[in-house]
Amino acid sequence: MKAVILHGGQGTRLRPLTHTGPKQLIKVAGKPVSQWVIEHLRSEGIRDIVVVLGDNNPTRVIEYYGDGSKFDVSITYVYQGKARGLADAVYRVREVVDGRFVVYLGDNLVLHNMSSLINTKAAASVMLAKVPNPQRFGVAVIKGGKIVKLVEKPKEPISDLALVGVYSFTEEIFDVIETLKPSWRNELEITDAIQGLIDRGRDVEYSIVNGWWKDTGTPADIIDANMTLLDRFSARRITGEIVNSKVEGRVEIGSGSKVKNSVIRGPAVISKSCIVENSFIGPYTSIGDNAKVVNAEIQNSVILDEVSISDIAITDSIIGQKSVIERGNNRPVANRIVVGENSWISL
Ligand code: G1P
Repeated sequence: MKAVILHGGQGTRLRPLTHTGPKQLIKVAGKPVSQWVIEHLRSEGIRDIVVVLGDNNPTRVIEYYGDGSKFDVSITYVYQGKARGLADAVYRVREVVDGRFVVYLGDNLVLHNMSSLINTKAAASVMLAKVPNPQRFGVAVIKGGKIVKLVEKPKEPISDLALVGVYSFTEEIFDVIETLKPSWRNELEITDAIQGLIDRGRDVEYSIVNGWWKDTGTPADIIDANMTLLDRFSARRITGEIVNSKVEGRVEIGSGSKVKNSVIRGPAVISKSCIVENSFIGPYTSIGDNAKVVNAEIQNSVILDEVSISDIAITDSIIGQKSVIERGNNRPVANRIVVGENSWISL
């Protein structure tokens, strides 16, 4: 069975992190969100993957994943180009799938097995999860054990069961998508396409996700996902060099990294080719490749590739690629800041 990962979208709520690339490439607990998706699919025995690319620096996605062989899967790419909604993205794969296929939103992290999606004869199979904020999702109304209605971003509270971003479809979904009209947010909604199957009298099955699930749409979601994934999956794996330091618990230190005169308390990930010196790296911190941390304290934070941090304490933060945060000694004693659009700083 093939799986389709949707890798487009503007990621507006994650700006400025998404000014230079798609949100699905943001590293959480040491790996891009969509790599967690690929590993989930692989664990379910699905290795034939189609990635639908959007228009926000799609070449970065191809550069990272290539043909998939480094990740023990096979990946082909389809361009959606300008985002016209999830149903439009799904429609782009009509020539490349054959029979039932899985659709996985590349910004969703789901710790739930996919057997109900794979072993079904229904026209569509979806996952639902109880949420406190259903207006942010597509929701399903259940009556007598059946889905009777689906609404995208409901204004009225009709259900608190949200559609998780993992589905399976037969090719009939393409016929329905051809008949869709854009929603109020001017998108062709996958939720409306599934409603179209119900309107045609087709079976739409569901399973309830009781475990953890996250749509990584906002900075708070990224911090939360980082914490949960580190809790669940981190292990003690030390390849880099440790000099005169205390490394406690489930800590990963990647190859070429050097930790000197520091305390690292897991769960934490320090990726490849980093320098950590005279610093404290506390629980739930992920540090990307080629980062430099000197005289600093960092906890519960996501530090992306090539960041440099010195002489400062940071908590509950996300620091975008190639950012520099340092304490200056110049007069006047004031903060000197160059930040991109949509940045957020709390001093
Ligand atoms: C999309 C879907 C929505 C689903 C959600 C899951 O929302 O349209 O039905 O509940 O993903 O993450 P969006 O991310 O486009 O707001």
